[in-house]
Amino acid sequence: MTAGQSDLARADSARADLAGADLARAGLRFDVGVPAPGAATITLDRSQRRNAMTPGMWYGLAAIGQALPPEVRVVVVQGAGPSFSAGIDLRLFTPEGVPGEDPLHSPADPGFDEWIAGCQAGYRWLRDPAIVSVAAVRGHAIGAGFQLALSCDLRVLADDARLCMKEPALGLVPDLTGTKPLVDIVGLPRALELCLTSRTVGAAEAAALRLAELVVPGTELDGAVGDLVAALLAVEPAVGRATKELLQQAPGHTLDEQAAAERRVQAALQRARLSD
Ligand code: ACO
Repeated sequence: MTAGQSDLARADSARADLAGADLARAGLRFDVGVPAPGAATITLDRSQRRNAMTPGMWYGLAAIGQALPPEVRVVVVQGAGPSFSAGIDLRLFTPEGVPGEDPLHSPADPGFDEWIAGCQAGYRWLRDPAIVSVAAVRGHAIGAGFQLALSCDLRVLADDARLCMKEPALGLVPDLTGTKPLVDIVGLPRALELCLTSRTVGAAEAAALRLAELVVPGTELDGAVGDLVAALLAVEPAVGRATKELLQQAPGHTLDEQAAAERRVQAALQRARLSD
């Protein structure tokens, strides 16, 4: 897992928090073997609220990551209904809150930082080199929803997709691990502009900004994701994992360091094959 030890401990406790509840209560569906054997699909499943998210949903995502069956090598994340996700459930900011959900932690609570880390655990595992994660986005991906799409390795967008980093407009910073991929993908000036204007980016612009690997008509989204998943699964598991690790390291390496890493990984991979 890319998350550090303490993050894993937090995710464990998040899973314990979910004990007794089921994923349906967290607003999630988890289907192993969908869209193909070797893959799994997570569906944000509160379409009547445009898949608005709660801490319970983030803990549920963390629990899925912790319990991911070892045969799963590709994870698709999608939303039920017309939207990927409308972001945090805005009722959490009201005194009434969301029925059945704990209220948001208070910043006055000394455990506030830890609590956010537990929420972030739902997003962090999607970068694990053992898997490739694919966001299949139709309609709106706003705030926490946009950050979830950003947490995936790849994004396939329907042509009605609309992305928005809404947090600053609501007096928040994006804190569900979305700022790093956003800057890595679009660069600092554009990331700043998108965050501080909270403007909505349509699918065509998203493709131009490299926020989408592929944009397809809405009716073709499932098929396009299925084709991508099949292509990803065709690669040997050890090769896929080693390649993702190598690519993830590349931005932090000099050419010499990366060339050395390529040699090291290739040797390990091919020697392992000799001993098979
Ligand atoms: N929280 C709670 N309920 C929501 C949310 C949300 N984030 N988004 C939508 N809903 C509810 C609506 O209140 C509505 O409920 P109702 O049927 O009881 O009236 C239902 O979902 C459908 O929403 P509509 O607005 O009717 O759907 P539409 O498709 O026209 O618009 C859209 C979808 C654009 C997502 C719109 O609902 C919206 O702007 N939502 C708020 C987005 C937002 O500001 N999110 C916070 C981001 S910041 C963060 O995530 C940290």
